[in-house]
Parts: sequence; C-alpha cells; structure tokens
Amino acid sequence: LTAPIRTAVLGPTGRLGSAICRALLDHPDFTLAGAVVRADSPAVGEDIGAWLGGDPIGCRAEIALEQAVHDADIVIDASLPTMTVAAAERLASLGGPAMVTGVTGFNRKQAALMTASATRLPILMAGNFSLGVAVTEALVREAARLPAADWDIEIHETHHKRKADAPSGTALMLARAAAETRGETLEDIATWSREGMTGPRQSGSIGFAVSRGGAVVGEHAIRFLSELEEITISHRALDRSIFARGALAAARWMTNGGAGRPAGAYSMQNVVTD
Ligand SMILES: NC(=O)c1ccc[n+]([C@@H]2O[C@H](COP(=O)([O-])OP(=O)(O)OC[C@H]3O[C@@H](n4cnc5c(N)ncnc54)[C@H](OP(=O)(O)O)[C@@H]3O)[C@@H](O)[C@H]2O)c1
Repeated sequence: LTAPIRTAVLGPTGRLGSAICRALLDHPDFTLAGAVVRADSPAVGEDIGAWLGGDPIGCRAEIALEQAVHDADIVIDASLPTMTVAAAERLASLGGPAMVTGVTGFNRKQAALMTASATRLPILMAGNFSLGVAVTEALVREAARLPAADWDIEIHETHHKRKADAPSGTALMLARAAAETRGETLEDIATWSREGMTGPRQSGSIGFAVSRGGAVVGEHAIRFLSELEEITISHRALDRSIFARGALAAARWMTNGGAGRPAGAYSMQNVVTD
C-alpha cells in the first residue's frame, strides 16, 4: 500500500481549480494538502472541502504559498499567469515541491520566467490537460514525421459559442507540433483563415478552419490531404472533467512513485508516452 499523493492546489476556487480539488477529494490515491487563494478572496481561512460544498477536510485556504505547500508532494496550479510565474519562482527557491500547471496565456516575458524557473524546479506545463489531446498530439507528430504523409495539413476546430479566442490554444498546439516535426515555424506557414479570391493553396502551409456554436466542449480534426487520399486524426471532448483527470495523471507522473523528476520543463507528452 502506497501513501496518497499530498497535493496543494493554487486557485482552488476557480472553474478548473475547483474541478481539480473535487477530483482530488474523490480519488483514493490523493489528498488535498494545501490551497492558495488571493489575499482578498472571500475563501481565505475557509475549510476548502466545505467551501466546495462537501464535508470539512481540515485544509484551509491560505494566502502564503510556503504555508500551503509545506506538507505537499506536488503543487497543481490552476490560477492565472501572474500567480503562476510568482509561485514557480518561489517554489524553485524553496527547492520544491514540483509544479504541474494548466494555466495558459503567458506573455513572452512570463514564458521566459517559467523557462528560467524550470532550470531549478521540475515544472510540467499543460495548455490542455486532456490525455486524449496529448495522445492526439503524439499521433500528429508521428504522421507529420512520415515522408509518405508529406501532404497538405488542415486543422478544423469547433467550440461552444462563448469561447472568445480563435483558433483554440489546442488547435495552435497541434498545428505547432506538425510544423515543428516538419522543421518549420507555425507562424511562417499558417493560413489563419480564407475568404474571397484566395487563389490556390500555398504549398507546405497549414490551414485553419474555426466553427463556434452551442455547447460543444471541444473538437479538433487534423487532416492530412493528398490528391488521392486523406487521413484525419480527430479528438472530441465529451465532458470538462477530462481536464481534472489529466491534471491528476500529470501529478502522479511528476511524483514518480515518490522518486520525483529532475528539474526541467515537462509536458503532457511525457505523461502519455512514458
Ligand atoms: N490546461 C487545461 O486543460 C485547462 C483547462 C481549463 C482552463 N485552463 C486554464 O486554467 C486557468 C484558469 O482557468 P479558469 O477557467 O479556472 O479561471 P478562473 O475560474 O478565473 O480561476 C482562476 C483562479 O485563480 C485564482 N487567482 C487568480 N489570481 C490569483 C492570485 N494572484 N493569487 C491566488 N489566486 C489567484 C482565482 O481566484 P479568484 O476567484 O479569487 O479571482 C481563481 O480561483 C486559465 O489560464 C485557463 O486558460 C486550462
């Protein structure tokens, strides 16, 4: 019998963070060992189990990171970039615990600071915690690597009508995986949209098509097209709970049965290919 993985959560009151906390509380292999909220959060000092609508668990929402992580094997971050960057620097200075972050939208400077912290701390960054999306990315890399599939690549994505950005971060990640595998930079070869007299398709480009509507959680299709045949690699998210499940899988991979991982930058590719 192995001890449960003691996990601290940053941003436990947010949409993603609360789903991760609930998944931790429901899972026999994990315990919620700490929670960090904003100084002006109404949750400060509250028992986080009770705050989430369940029984008290004896874990209070803290402002101080040190306080929340001192009993933790791993930190899962579901806050926002400013908090993430500060926490990564602080954890690196403290010598751990390692960090798994699902936060997206880092600007250039913040991304550079995360890379710097990852030289001193194991950090897994996941723009999408879905294990299925991570497998999809591995398949895209494989297909794009094969000379026989040196075909036109088009990416189609569909999301619910409230989504504010396009193409989705996941579509960008999948396109970037294909471009990198072909030795290209996505920004140099992307056709972001098409309208009117576009002329023939640019050879070697990666095209995007975006749909928005209803309550679609997330659909991505990566099409490899030749003149005579076509391969489509596609993923459909059926429920948002996949993100919390993937976050726990990432935390488990990072703790590595208690042995941990060396300082460095990791991704969901490590989780699904290891
Ligand atoms: N990787 C994935 O699969 C995945 C899936 C979904 C979302 N995301 C990303 O995860 C992040 C969070 O998304 P969300 O939808 O959960 O957002 P959200 O509901 O706004 O949650 C953000 C959480 O962070 C807290 N927070 C913000 N700044 C903080 C600070 N300085 N100190 C402490 N806590 C702070 C917020 O507290 P308050 O409520 O007090 O403001 C809130 O609890 C975003 O970057 C989003 O893109 C990733």
